[in-house]
Amino acid sequence: MTSAPETLKACCASAYASAAARWLLGPSFHPGGTALTSELVQALRVGPGETVADVASGPGTSALQLARETGCYVIGIDLSEESVAAAAKAAEAAGLGDQVRFVHGDAEELPLATASLDGALSECSLCLFPDKEAAAAELARVLRPGARLALSDVVADGESLPAELRTASAWAACLADARPPEEIAGLLESAGLRVEASERRDGALAELLDRVEGRLAVARLVGDRLPDGLGSGVGRWIDLAAKARQALDEGILGYGVIVARRP
Ligand SMILES: C[S@@+](CC[C@H](N)C(=O)[O-])C[C@H]1O[C@@H](n2cnc3c(N)ncnc32)[C@H](O)[C@@H]1O
Repeated sequence: MTSAPETLKACCASAYASAAARWLLGPSFHPGGTALTSELVQALRVGPGETVADVASGPGTSALQLARETGCYVIGIDLSEESVAAAAKAAEAAGLGDQVRFVHGDAEELPLATASLDGALSECSLCLFPDKEAAAAELARVLRPGARLALSDVVADGESLPAELRTASAWAACLADARPPEEIAGLLESAGLRVEASERRDGALAELLDRVEGRLAVARLVGDRLPDGLGSGVGRWIDLAAKARQALDEGILGYGVIVARRP
């Protein structure tokens, strides 16, 4: 897997802005859906008047949920301008335009002031950032002392991933650069955060894979009538999903939740 970091970033941003991504994944683009997001939101321990960022906010579903469940102000940040625009539209439609805003930005260089946040959420996205040390340092920089980060991500024993799960497509599918939970915890600790909790949620990834495999089976049947021409390349994605399932069954792949606090 030899793609340049900027190429990988652009590819991921455009993949998740597509109608095909929404069709495949549903309203939340991470394992565990809104139920797991609720757990992360509670772990942040934030309330009305406080400000929390959702880093790599994608469709904006979690940012809106965070605002509804806590009453806090939310800033969603994503590398895709298309996703930012769509999420802003969703916030307006939900009547949350005054409480939630979405801005274009890179997780490796957050457009936020130092120590300006009372919390940060980041779901299923660290695995996509080529420079994970920079992203961890940015998350630590923007949190005020005492504020928490609630992060969930695909986790993997990278050494054991088969070659089919190390391609550029597998990177965009959150697989190729997923790291072990201990490594993610180490990245956050090195950035100056203190890890308070780390848990595996592999069942959530299994459930999302069930959905994706079901949708891909439909895609194979109906072909060209699907969004963004998904039908034409479906065989490749079915093979990738099968390899991911195998890695999950073998314990090489999973999903993890980490809560960390800035001292
Ligand atoms: C798997 S989706 C998760 C979206 C959202 N967090 C959720 O769980 O619904 C990954 C998101 O990361 C965004 N992304 C990828 N690289 C990024 C970067 N360097 N900075 C900010 N966002 C990025 C993509 O545009 C995409 O919206």
